Amino acid sequence: MITTQKIKIDIQNPEREIILQASDLIKHGEIVAFPTETVYGLGANALNSDAVKKIFIAKGRPQDNPLILHVSDFNQVDELVFTNDTAKALMQKFWPGALTLVMKAKEIVPLQTRGGLNTAAVRMPDNKIALALISSSGVPIAAPSANLSGKPSPTDAQTVFDDMNGKINLILDGGATNYGIESTVIDITDEENILLLRPGSVAREDIENFLNKRLNSPDKNNLKRSPGTRYKHYSPNIPVYILGQKDFSESEFKNAGYMGLTEPEIIFKERIIFNSPEDYAHGLFAGFRKLESDGVNFIIAELPLNAGIGLGLTDRIKRAAGLQ
Ligand code: TXA
Ligand code: MG
Repeated sequence: MITTQKIKIDIQNPEREIILQASDLIKHGEIVAFPTETVYGLGANALNSDAVKKIFIAKGRPQDNPLILHVSDFNQVDELVFTNDTAKALMQKFWPGALTLVMKAKEIVPLQTRGGLNTAAVRMPDNKIALALISSSGVPIAAPSANLSGKPSPTDAQTVFDDMNGKINLILDGGATNYGIESTVIDITDEENILLLRPGSVAREDIENFLNKRLNSPDKNNLKRSPGTRYKHYSPNIPVYILGQKDFSESEFKNAGYMGLTEPEIIFKERIIFNSPEDYAHGLFAGFRKLESDGVNFIIAELPLNAGIGLGLTDRIKRAAGLQ
């Protein structure tokens, strides 16, 4: 069993010796968990198949679910994928940031990293620790969210520790992440038919307004190209229901937990009320885990409006409820 070290690191000014310790592990084909602005990632050298394989094993992730390659420099992108004008414009506008772009992959990206697909997903995270780690490692870092496959994504280092203790060498503890839900993933291989594969922290409207064009939804055929959307995700071990989805008795509610933007009239064992959709996104995954560990029998979650971050938030809640 590996001993997992969790080290505090300064988000504003990441300590050089800690970054060197972490990048040394990456260079040696090991895994390091690190914060991004969305959720914590489980990182390895994206160009080293054996290193990437360790991520799949640590997470228990299906092999055909591809990883995002995280870069710290715009010049790295052309080495990994075939870009186009729209992709370049999106990078300039939204990077560093929570927008992941799927483009046609170059040979250098191992099949292990891209789940056997001919495309690869790339993003530049907006987090100084992540950027320092990538540039010090000198390679793109492949990183899925740092949870066990199927569990809610971790938004703080302790949660990574809870899932990954004994499985990875190092966790960089940069405090709580900003957004709380993952990046928005779009497929930009065909500039005339840009697909929203996963709604997330960058609002769909912001991308559409910038491009002056609608993002399309993947049809059944395209769903194959977004393997992550095939699996149930983000769920705690107890059932999650959307508010109003199912009727329960008063006593059942008294043993349940509630999360939402409005105060419920029903009496719950525990409730978590958020002040805004942003706040809700920030606390959703941590809330799932907290209610579960506090021993509620099930969770009722209120859906936010389906706009802005509410789109990604709705997606995550529905997935947790097994509805999509
Ligand atoms: O915010 C995030 O995106 C976080 C942080 C760590 O960057 N990462 C994350 O990774 O959420 P993961 O592996 O949990 O989700 C990546 C998603 C999956 O749905 C995967 O199927 C999709 O991106 N994806 C990756 N490469 C793809 C590709 N070549 N084509 C289509 N979808 C791809
Ligand atoms: Mg994930």
